Amino acid sequence: MAELPVLSNAYLAIQNGVIQEFGSMTDLPSGSKAQTEIDASGRFVFPSFVDSHTHLVFATSREEEFVMKIKGATYEEIAANGGGILNSAKKLRQTSEDELFERALARINEIIHTGTGAVEIKSGYGLTVKDELKMLRVARRIGRETPLTVKTTFLGAHAVPKEMSKENYINMVLNEMIPAVAEEKLADYIDVFCEQGFFTPDETERIVEGGKKFGMKPRIHANQLHRSGGVQVGVKTGALSVDHLENIGEEEIECLKNSSVMPTALPGAAFFLGLPFPPARKMIEAGLPVAIASDYNPGSSPSGNMPLMVALACIKMKMTPEEAINASTINTAAALELENAHGSITKGKIANVFITKPIPSVAFLPYAFGSNVIETVILKGSIVI
Ligand code: NIG
Ligand code: FE
Repeated sequence: MAELPVLSNAYLAIQNGVIQEFGSMTDLPSGSKAQTEIDASGRFVFPSFVDSHTHLVFATSREEEFVMKIKGATYEEIAANGGGILNSAKKLRQTSEDELFERALARINEIIHTGTGAVEIKSGYGLTVKDELKMLRVARRIGRETPLTVKTTFLGAHAVPKEMSKENYINMVLNEMIPAVAEEKLADYIDVFCEQGFFTPDETERIVEGGKKFGMKPRIHANQLHRSGGVQVGVKTGALSVDHLENIGEEEIECLKNSSVMPTALPGAAFFLGLPFPPARKMIEAGLPVAIASDYNPGSSPSGNMPLMVALACIKMKMTPEEAINASTINTAAALELENAHGSITKGKIANVFITKPIPSVAFLPYAFGSNVIETVILKGSIVI
């Protein structure tokens, strides 16, 4: 993870939306001419970020809860009082599919500007059959109508709606939601919020096993607020990733070592909620890979800005800039089963890259946190910014 190969004085050739060739300028065949040429002198060309964890389809922001938190309320207290996920669900149910799409599109535009080329989008603010389907249809439409590559995740088990018992809701997730989602092919993956006050490890296992029967591979919200057992259930059920990991110790790290699950940190959520950051250095020293995603959502990480996530990974988790770039590109691509087409500048991969403004080094990107260092964005071979 520590190695990020960099070529200086290099060229990159793109054809039909795919990376055709790259190399040192001295190896550029003489007489080469492209239809469109960009002079990137003094600049860096990065592979686009792959953001493997977002909830970016939502109806409205929740800055009133942000203010409550500033005044001392915890995430759990807000959730227990009908705020949090249930608050978002109430608002989403009142919003039409077209309106949701328009609102999500503004966020998509934002993340394209900050260098994201592929993104995972979860449901989980519907909590009824109809509204979960609505969210996932919006996510699929984003994949069809924007230049981003989109993977979708069914997160019906995000919270239990007030009007139902947990057992009844789990049965509804298993017997009604999963088959309906599968019928329309709306989700690539299934996720559960495995957390005290939400879903236990046993319930998580039951739900993801239900999803697996319909071809949805698991990824788990694990160990965000407590040592919830989420990591263990993720490993047990063969999840692609376990995400959050603010509350893990030696036991979880040991458990991950014997698996192919991608441990994913969401530094925006740890930062925004004032939680401990995942022990990335310990994980890397134990030989584990680490991925970094944004968790873009209205409650715990109202930002999909991947350069900021990379900066937080460096500043708060002591990852090197090279590790953090790998974590947010090739490792997140692997977590979304996109590693053959995304996540690095490699011959034959989709031409998703961004070109920086003139900057002195790779490390300048996280160092200049909060500054926009991105000048040009190329997605699927087209200049979009
Ligand atoms: O990943 N932790 C659970 N879900 C989201 C937050 C959802 C919300 O607060 O709206 C997360 O942090
Ligand atoms: Fe999340």
